[in-house]
Amino acid sequence: MALIEIWMALVMLAGTTSCTLVAEFSSNTTVLLGSDVKLLCTIRYQTEGSNVLWKKIDLGSNILSLNNETIFTGKYEVEDQYNLVIKNVQFHDEGIYECDTGEQRLTVALQVAVLMSNMTMRWDIPTPFKRYAYVNLTCVSINSRPPATLRWYRGVHEVTRSSINNERVTRQNGYGDTTSTLVGQVSSEDVPYVCIADLPDNPRVRSEFLFPPIIGAACLPGSGVVIVVFLGLLSYLLNS
Ligand SMILES: *[C@@H]1O[C@H](CO)[C@@H](O)[C@H](O)[C@H]1NC(C)=O
Ligand SMILES: *[C@@H]1O[C@H](CO)[C@@H](O)[C@H](O)[C@H]1NC(C)=O
Ligand SMILES: *[C@@H]1O[C@H](CO)[C@@H](O)[C@H](O)[C@H]1NC(C)=O
Ligand SMILES: *[C@@H]1O[C@H](CO)[C@@H](O)[C@H](O)[C@H]1NC(C)=O
Repeated sequence: MALIEIWMALVMLAGTTSCTLVAEFSSNTTVLLGSDVKLLCTIRYQTEGSNVLWKKIDLGSNILSLNNETIFTGKYEVEDQYNLVIKNVQFHDEGIYECDTGEQRLTVALQVAVLMSNMTMRWDIPTPFKRYAYVNLTCVSINSRPPATLRWYRGVHEVTRSSINNERVTRQNGYGDTTSTLVGQVSSEDVPYVCIADLPDNPRVRSEFLFPPIIGAACLPGSGVVIVVFLGLLSYLLNS
């Protein structure tokens, strides 16, 4: 409230009759290809007759919306005042967006991310695992845009700082691969090692894990069942 009062006082001193105060605005945003994104331009105070426009700044500047109206209804929506929703984001939606209130022009950059095509964890000792054996666990994320950032957990404890051979390769088209190795130890405590892949603004887009006692066992139901059990355990561990 104090901010609004100061703003109003300033506007009155300046003798302006129309004013608009943007209270909340998005910082640069990365969104997954094909999903929807909402860019915030929340107005705290607006005098009658002032307009709020969303524009996309390319070579020129294209008006996407005027106040709560847009003519590109399949692609954009303006909701909760002046937040711009971009639907089914594609590569050509990348770029700079501007919320223009007449007095303030705020810009935000939108980037499009693509999930990795594959993520794996491999290890370099044969099964069945010997208790207390050391094992190099190597986690690989293939072909995401941009290349993912990998984190390691043992149970609930983050152990990324102990990882070695971290490598991130970006190709010219912006896609790339990430590799990371962690030296683990087979224990009797059934504490899984988990490798988590993050994309900008999209943490935990995927994870892979090793659970030595079960993977080492011979007779198991279909792997789908095992994965479900692991995932249940994983989300329990990560959320607790
Ligand atoms: C836009 O706002 C006007 C005035 O507040 C309202 O009458 C109208 O229904 C709104 N239109 C949409 C599409 O929300
Ligand atoms: C947001 O993106 C723009 C354009 O890419 C860049 O110039 C600016 O530095 C970025 N802002 C932040 C806070 O990262
Ligand atoms: C993903 O990785 C696994 C294990 O390395 C491999 O068997 C599978 O073929 C890979 N899939 C793709 C689409 O690359
Ligand atoms: C793990 O890899 C490192 C370096 O690549 C190697 O020096 C080490 O001997 C390996 N450890 C095991 C247990 O394989």
